[in-house]
Amino acid sequence: MPKVAPIDQRKADHIKINLEQDVRSGLTTGLEDYQFIHEALPELDLNRIDTTLELFDKQLAAPILISSMTGGTAEAETLNMRLAEAAQELNIAMGVGSQRAALEHPEQAVTFQVRRVAPNIMLFANIGAVQLNYGYTVDHCRRAVDMIQADALILHLNPLQEAVQDAGDTNFAGLAQKIEEVCKQIEVPVIGKEVGWGISERTARILSDCGVSAIDVAGAGGTSWSQVEMHRAPDEFTRQLAATFVGWGIPTAKSILNVRKAAPDMTILASGGLKDGLDIAKCIALGATLGGMAGPFLKAAAISAEKVIEIIKLTKRQIEVTMFACGVERLDGLALRLQGVAEG
Ligand SMILES: Cc1cc2nc3c(=O)[nH]c(=O)nc-3n(C[C@H](O)[C@H](O)[C@H](O)COP(=O)(O)O)c2cc1C
Repeated sequence: MPKVAPIDQRKADHIKINLEQDVRSGLTTGLEDYQFIHEALPELDLNRIDTTLELFDKQLAAPILISSMTGGTAEAETLNMRLAEAAQELNIAMGVGSQRAALEHPEQAVTFQVRRVAPNIMLFANIGAVQLNYGYTVDHCRRAVDMIQADALILHLNPLQEAVQDAGDTNFAGLAQKIEEVCKQIEVPVIGKEVGWGISERTARILSDCGVSAIDVAGAGGTSWSQVEMHRAPDEFTRQLAATFVGWGIPTAKSILNVRKAAPDMTILASGGLKDGLDIAKCIALGATLGGMAGPFLKAAAISAEKVIEIIKLTKRQIEVTMFACGVERLDGLALRLQGVAEG
């Protein structure tokens, strides 16, 4: 067996490890430092709370995103179809996992092509930005978007994940200029996204200058990709290297504030360790447009589409009850109702 696993083996390992091992970051999201102000007399009808929003010219029923996860294997196809079916049923947004496998092996495209069950959802294509330093061009990005008829393209940024894995793609030099080129030439909005270590002010400024339309902060506090890589390390050296970074990264709450400060007009997608609709509501209050979850949806999709629907319904209800109990009828009212616990 070659030392470096082929992409589809890697994808299968990722799903198995995420389902079976504890891969949580040593950090928390920072959202626990905030709470909403409770209103005993909200003067609202819970059944009239409005969680709808518009993003990239599409209307969504709630600010919930099924974060980019998978594709490339038969198991991944099943998961993608369940996630997409649920997203279509409740009109929320979804991303597919990195499409590199399908760009290199076109017969795998079908495992990402969820439009057959989700013709209307807000759908995000996904490629690792670093591939632009390993032969990928704007044309590859365009093919990824066309492959799944996506509404936008996510370029994910995962320097630490690449650095702690055996033979990762670690040349991130000069990448900003290539991201800028993609933003200029491609026909859909581009989203810059971390994978679980968050976004600094400096990175937010660079991405903004590149011309991305949104940033998904994917902050620390949830799935840790160094922990995932630790579990699939081929030797002790790699295992210890990956294990070092369990407490690394910028928590999700701080990452949102970083982007707001560095690029005040940037559309922010929040993810990284969000566990329910209350966490999503806090992210909206801090300045995000959507809140994404990966791990929780993966576990539901491993069971059934119905289980994913159940989780989305519960998450939406948690957002509605949060809004009701702090006296706001629309999402844009949440910002004024959040306070730091220390201020409380
Ligand atoms: C099984 C799995 C696979 C993932 N694959 C990708 C990927 O291909 N591209 C990407 O941008 N992010 C990927 N992610 C990262 C998530 O989109 C998300 O940013 C991160 O897991 C943090 O969210 P969480 O704490 O809710 O899991 C993956 C996450 C999981 C759990």
